[in-house]
Amino acid sequence: MLKHFEIAVIGGGPGGYIAAIRAAQLGQKTVLIEKQDLGGTCLNRGCIPTKALLHSAEVYHQLGSAKALGITMGDYSFQYKKMAKRKDKVVKQLRSGVENLVNGHGAEIIRGKGVLTGPHTIQVGEELVEADQIILAAGSIPASIPVPGADLPNVMNSDGVLSLEECPDSVVIIGGGVIGVEFATLFNSLGKQVTIIEMLPSILHGNDPDICKTMTELLTDRGVKIYTGAKLLSIQEGLVCTFEQNGETLTAQGAAVVMAAGRKPDSKALGLEAVGVQMERGFVQVDDELRTNVPHIYAIGDLTGKQQLAHVATAQGIIAAHNAAGEHRSMRYEAVPSCIYTTPEIAYVGLTEEKAVTAGHKVKTGRFNVSGNGRSLAIACSDGFAKLVIDADTNKVLGCHILAPHATEMIGEATLAIASNLDVEDIADTIHAHPTVSEIIMEAAHDVEGLCCHKM
Ligand code: FAD
Ligand code: NAI
Repeated sequence: MLKHFEIAVIGGGPGGYIAAIRAAQLGQKTVLIEKQDLGGTCLNRGCIPTKALLHSAEVYHQLGSAKALGITMGDYSFQYKKMAKRKDKVVKQLRSGVENLVNGHGAEIIRGKGVLTGPHTIQVGEELVEADQIILAAGSIPASIPVPGADLPNVMNSDGVLSLEECPDSVVIIGGGVIGVEFATLFNSLGKQVTIIEMLPSILHGNDPDICKTMTELLTDRGVKIYTGAKLLSIQEGLVCTFEQNGETLTAQGAAVVMAAGRKPDSKALGLEAVGVQMERGFVQVDDELRTNVPHIYAIGDLTGKQQLAHVATAQGIIAAHNAAGEHRSMRYEAVPSCIYTTPEIAYVGLTEEKAVTAGHKVKTGRFNVSGNGRSLAIACSDGFAKLVIDADTNKVLGCHILAPHATEMIGEATLAIASNLDVEDIADTIHAHPTVSEIIMEAAHDVEGLCCHKM
């Protein structure tokens, strides 16, 4: 049976389901095609389940410092199965919310794998969908590391970790990027032995170097073994990981090995080659309006290889929906916040000092340490800082880098500053509530001019 729609969206992750809702809001006859669960990687195998588990682990970890807070407790322990069950409940609740929202806004949902069979036709099982405009939102899947032993039992990617019903006693994590460091935080908070093997000179490479250094020290102090500049060579029986560091061959062993070495686009078997959609290493190439080289076909989210973040996919989904409905909106990437759910949290937006200099800016910076912030000490955290990167000629905010409790909740202020082209004075002159951790951003803004009252 042939069904006709004005807009068809392939993939129901945070990019695709939002694109479908917005297209329907704009009065377009819209269909959303999803082969697995609505909510995509983010809701089912990414953002949400990891943060649910991290919350349980963080509460467990904090119980360890109860005595220092004046609380006397008896024995306590965790049941990982129950933590995993709670995580599944959160995901299920949100997933049914997504389905209700898509239906409620009037977009049709078709379950199954969508394959383009022509420029305007998509085969989904027995059904043939015809669409005037198509938005590709097929997302990404974990990349594998082609080393001997990668297929041994208990060698897993992030999907595997999120399916565990029992907590492994020790974990070797290959890749010290965002996924690797968040899983290291999870298992370390649960008291398990964690080793990170990272190929590049530091974990979280690309972040502000002081943040990388401080997070490395904090994780090391908490017992995580971190090997950087280290290349995995093989995994042998017993999950012995052999790697090379500075010309030396070393080993690390764990009850589980987690491969966290990046994600690749899920563009295979979408039928894109047949309709001539241009790709590079599987990532669909798009312009600022999110159009591919085939003018009525758009692509959004991880599939485009821009920034693999849920909120980027969502922002792109909204723009693609408007454009597919006949508008000309452009995507901007200079004010995209990134958050890493470590303890304390990391959040940043805009340029690092190094990247700002490379981009040709004359730069000045301001910094304020968490140890000088009343609220942070009250909640028993003294590690971290906020750093502002400012254009010395124009005073415009170019970047903000935070390692602090609740950093992920505070980055919105700096994101708004960059998106709205604000000056550092706009932050410095804004009254921040006391006592809040967010005062560290204001103090860093005062520090830019050497006028920070809480710093000598
Ligand atoms: P996806 O979410 O991958 O969704 C794509 C959907 O398309 C999937 O449901 C898939 O089944 C479907 N699909 C694919 N091909 C077809 C087809 N042919 N037909 C029909 N359907 C198809 N990002 C953050 O911003 N914050 C975080 O805290 C965060 N944590 C993460 C933690 C982990 C462990 C992982 C793995 C990722 C995390 N991410 C996080 C990244 C985030 O999940 C992705 O950036 C985001 O999900 C991308 O959204 P998307 O819509 O492009 O694709
Ligand atoms: P990543 O690109 O952040 O990190 C992968 C790391 O693995 C890199 O540092 C790389 O050098 C290392 N690596 C690759 N091959 C290796 C090898 N053979 N040996 C040792 N190290 C090796 O990718 P990651 O962590 O897998 O995350 C994928 C995406 O998911 C990220 O781009 C991120 O945007 C998104 N994500 C976002 C989160 C958030 O926003 N909080 C949380 C988790 C994921």
